Amino acid sequence: MVKYSKKSENMTRAADVMGEEATSASACSGHHSLGGQHNDLQEDRTKCGLCVQILLIAMALAKNRIYMDYNATTPLESEVILAISEALHEAWGNPSSSYLPGRKAKTIITRSRENVARMVGGRAEDIIFMSGGTEANNLVFHTAVKHFWEGSGASEMNGQERSLVNGKSVLPHIITSNVEHDSVRLAIESLSREGKADVTFVPVSKVTARVEVEDVMAAVRPTTCLISIMLANNETGVLMPIRELCKKVRSLSKQQPAGRILLHTDAAQAIGKVRVDVQELGVDYLTIVGHKFYAPRVGALYVNGPGSTTPVFPMFFGGGQERNFRPGTENTPMIAGLGKAAELVSTHLPQFETHLRDTRLYLEQRLQDVFGKEKIHFNSHFPGSETLPNTCNVSILGPGLQGRRVLSCCRKLLASVGAACHSDRGDRPSHILLSCGIPPEVAANALRLSVGRGTSHRDVDLVVEDLKEAVQELEGRS
Ligand SMILES: Cc1ncc(COP(=O)(O)O)c(C=O)c1O
Repeated sequence: MVKYSKKSENMTRAADVMGEEATSASACSGHHSLGGQHNDLQEDRTKCGLCVQILLIAMALAKNRIYMDYNATTPLESEVILAISEALHEAWGNPSSSYLPGRKAKTIITRSRENVARMVGGRAEDIIFMSGGTEANNLVFHTAVKHFWEGSGASEMNGQERSLVNGKSVLPHIITSNVEHDSVRLAIESLSREGKADVTFVPVSKVTARVEVEDVMAAVRPTTCLISIMLANNETGVLMPIRELCKKVRSLSKQQPAGRILLHTDAAQAIGKVRVDVQELGVDYLTIVGHKFYAPRVGALYVNGPGSTTPVFPMFFGGGQERNFRPGTENTPMIAGLGKAAELVSTHLPQFETHLRDTRLYLEQRLQDVFGKEKIHFNSHFPGSETLPNTCNVSILGPGLQGRRVLSCCRKLLASVGAACHSDRGDRPSHILLSCGIPPEVAANALRLSVGRGTSHRDVDLVVEDLKEAVQELEGRS
């Protein structure tokens, strides 16, 4: 277990349990009620911070839940909570104001920007704060399409005229993969539906579950303006070959008649788990999502030289904040939390990564020991592919053992069957797993177990025992 801060660990584990109701409600409503404790908690919020912390820890112990859904969201680190509350108390001023509370807010934002930039190997001026990953991703697609038209000199034309430049049908072309998060897939589909862009969804290999570089390169057209491929998949944890891809695209870009091909990666799942360095990757844009690395629900977009080296066309217009790329009065406390969480990642990443990998490997070993190798299929193991250290996507094989049914019988485990935003898909197997070549009957039984910084071997033992009892119960019923 990572012992970089005992207080932080306690807070994290207590906060895990606080988060349980939201993430598990769809799995098994019977086990997950806070009941009267909720009102008690509300009252105690007004007492001192220490009381609240003790209460949370007591609740954690009493509830006996084990959270293994860290790819859906993470709790806040105690240092992050502290940074947020300090900002709430002391830096409540408008960051654009010149008197003290305003200047304090501005200083906090500047420091956070530096910390976020350091975490991904960029410069402070390359970071644009925004509401989260969904906004960051949408801004990239909006920008790429606008940039295409600016470059082609057709920006003054209306939509119909544009698509018929010189009598030929011309639309900006975007390449992405078929396993992206909905904030990429649906945003691009919407551009395509509205006749604003052509789109190619490159399928991942059914052997490696990766988007292969040569498949992406084969999809490039003279009109390709953007390639957007995630750094790590949220369900399988598979890491995509972004560095190799960027290298290939860079050399090709020079010959593109419609100008350079912009490169974007959604790094939501990779940050805080593996090293992410924009220089090494060679991307123009990189999406940063706070709530995946123990920060609050805000995010940022890294842009290599926004407005100079790399285009950014704002979606909003307003008061000039974030150099007009994303105006709106800054959310100082949440930006403070994001900055603190980024600082923790920069300082402790090797420990985090080692701990996550050790815990996940132990989990996989225990699953095999308890269920037997023939009853377990890992949907996150693909030959030749590297994966996130914390993600174990596993199916317990057998009729009636669909992921959702198994989770609903678990008394301790809080996990999911796939991306949180697909939790309304009923028992249909994940399209991501099917795209990766997992057979439908195996994909239907998938459980996405994602461990966190505070997950211990004891937690793993308890979860595997919990799963064993759940499976016995379900098999006894059939
Ligand atoms: C890969 C990926 N991209 C983007 C997002 C969306 O980020 P946000 O929830 O901040 O909008 C998520 C969150 O689930 C994600 O996993």
